Amino acid sequence: MLDPYNRDIYYLRISVTDRCNLRCTYCMPEEGVTLKSHHDILSYEEIEEIVRVAVKLGFYKFRLTGGEPLIRKGILDLVRTLANIEGIETLAMTTNGLLLPKYATELKAVGLSRLNISLDSLRADRYRQISRGGDLTLALAGIQAAREAGFEKTKLNAVLVDGFNDDEKENLKKFAAENNMQARFIKKMDLKSGDYYQVEGGAGGNCSICNRIRLTADGKMRSCLFSDCEFDIRKEGIEEAFRKAIGNKPQKGHKSLKREMIQIGG
Ligand code: 5AD
Ligand code: SF4
Repeated sequence: MLDPYNRDIYYLRISVTDRCNLRCTYCMPEEGVTLKSHHDILSYEEIEEIVRVAVKLGFYKFRLTGGEPLIRKGILDLVRTLANIEGIETLAMTTNGLLLPKYATELKAVGLSRLNISLDSLRADRYRQISRGGDLTLALAGIQAAREAGFEKTKLNAVLVDGFNDDEKENLKKFAAENNMQARFIKKMDLKSGDYYQVEGGAGGNCSICNRIRLTADGKMRSCLFSDCEFDIRKEGIEEAFRKAIGNKPQKGHKSLKREMIQIGG
């Protein structure tokens, strides 16, 4: 579907949970966020229906995000169901990788197309600091598992924080190349002050070619990461929420005060 600025919107990012097994400093405040109740979170049946409507409206690229998508119960069933919908060209997932040793092989088997794995540092102390407690060896094991499961064109997402890990850029690039991954560098963004940047090695953050909208785990269709404009799937109806989100997509991002990154899915 075309938006008011003639951009073709065909990519839907679906947050399947507002929970995570890490607590990255740039993604959530130290005290955490108020988690939505089970009632508010979209069921897999609802997500399937939304994706079917999306395909009808011309969407063909989908990405599951979170929080951390792999911590939601039954995630393999959702991937299997969505992968079987005709008209989907790409069904990808963005994950911190910690649970890939458990899931990578099955994710491949049920039809997931590609993975983006977040890894901000190759130094255990920094990894632990930036993720508030994460274990680097587990993330590395996840990357290894993705490879062994046969995933290709896996992307390594690194959020660069000035003066913290920006000196690791070359190392991360080298690590990515050695592991058959493509490195993408994302300068730390801030929803509330409206600081956003183009993703190096990706299309994100470039408003003039933006092709995406977002669905939050609690069923709100968002026009833009950096806008509070969102439409409730359950109140508006699925197709109407799509039409409104696309019809109200701003020419460029401004800022978003309503949610933290973890509640949108990046
Ligand atoms: N700035 C830039 N990228 C972020 N992500 C999460 N929060 C931020 C932020 N403040 C990224 C994660 C992940 C993707 C889902 O979003 O690193 O790769
Ligand atoms: Fe979790 Fe990813 Fe946010 Fe880190 S950036 S807290 S891994 S959702």
